[in-house]
Amino acid sequence: MKDIRAKILSNKKIRHTYYKMVLDAPYIARTAKPGQFVQIKCSDSLEPFLRRPFSIHRVNGNIEILYETVGKSTEILSRKKEGDFLYILGPLGNGFSLTYDSHPSETRGSKLNLEPRAIIIAGGVGVAPLVYLAEELAKKHIKTIVLIGAKTKDLILCEKDFKKTAHEVYVSTDDGTYGSQGFVSKLFHKILKTVESRFDTVVYVCGPQGMLRCIAEICQERNFECQVSLEEKMACGIGVCLGCVVKTKTGNKLACKDGPVFDSSELLW
Ligand SMILES: Cc1cc2nc3c(=O)[nH]c(=O)nc-3n(C[C@H](O)[C@H](O)[C@H](O)COP(=O)(O)OP(=O)(O)OC[C@H]3O[C@@H](n4cnc5c(N)ncnc54)[C@H](O)[C@@H]3O)c2cc1C
Ligand code: FES
Repeated sequence: MKDIRAKILSNKKIRHTYYKMVLDAPYIARTAKPGQFVQIKCSDSLEPFLRRPFSIHRVNGNIEILYETVGKSTEILSRKKEGDFLYILGPLGNGFSLTYDSHPSETRGSKLNLEPRAIIIAGGVGVAPLVYLAEELAKKHIKTIVLIGAKTKDLILCEKDFKKTAHEVYVSTDDGTYGSQGFVSKLFHKILKTVESRFDTVVYVCGPQGMLRCIAEICQERNFECQVSLEEKMACGIGVCLGCVVKTKTGNKLACKDGPVFDSSELLW
């Protein structure tokens, strides 16, 4: 982890309240894993005082973040220009475990004669850490299915990015204006009825808390490993302030240091 003064290479509105920023941060680009995040000092003044956490959206020599303007810091960020500088601390957190690394196919797949498969589920701006994850899974030739959910058609993010790397991409909107109608958890149920079961499945999910919980329950019924990325409110981002406690079956953990990615079966929801 390093605190870096990074140059903004671009900062563009992609739609509505969503922006993508590219930062010149080669150290973070070299060392970051999917699911890790950076703490950005958004303001040059003391107000807002605290840095804000943002997932590493993509890595390409530089790093990209995808963010939604929801309050003061993100508003300030949206007004930054190419050539401006920001202090960013990272990479932080544990990131997703690409299970197929730590449990090679002899233990997970081949032994049971099952092929590995990833199902990525994104809700709203929860897509942010999952595009980088999909790219890394593609490099490992893991069959990947992506489900993206949003309130309405205009708020669906990163569909094209996922189509470049995933085998199948499905979309749902709450109002039915694009893709399947209803929550992405409903789409997950539907997809599970049609996809083949001859796979050793790991589910990776990021989005609103209610959605995470629903997906975790479905995974538990199916006995799928489910890794959830939590977007708890954070202050320091490095395990010092104890402001991001998450209750788990093995005691309290810190979202910033022990997470933000947790095995859903460990969480006390
Ligand atoms: C590990 C991690 C990764 C994140 N990655 C991204 C990302 O890639 N893109 C992105 O757009 N956002 C991400 N977030 C959320 C982002 O940090 C907040 O939106 C941001 O801090 C808001 O700052 P603000 O000053 O603009 O808003 P504030 O004035 O602080 O808050 C405005 C509103 O947003 C709500 N809010 C603030 N923080 C959070 C949060 N963590 N979760 C849910 N609601 C919140 C507040 O309750 C309030 O209603 C991430 C959060 C975490 C913990
Ligand atoms: S944000 Fe300070 S301990 Fe996690």
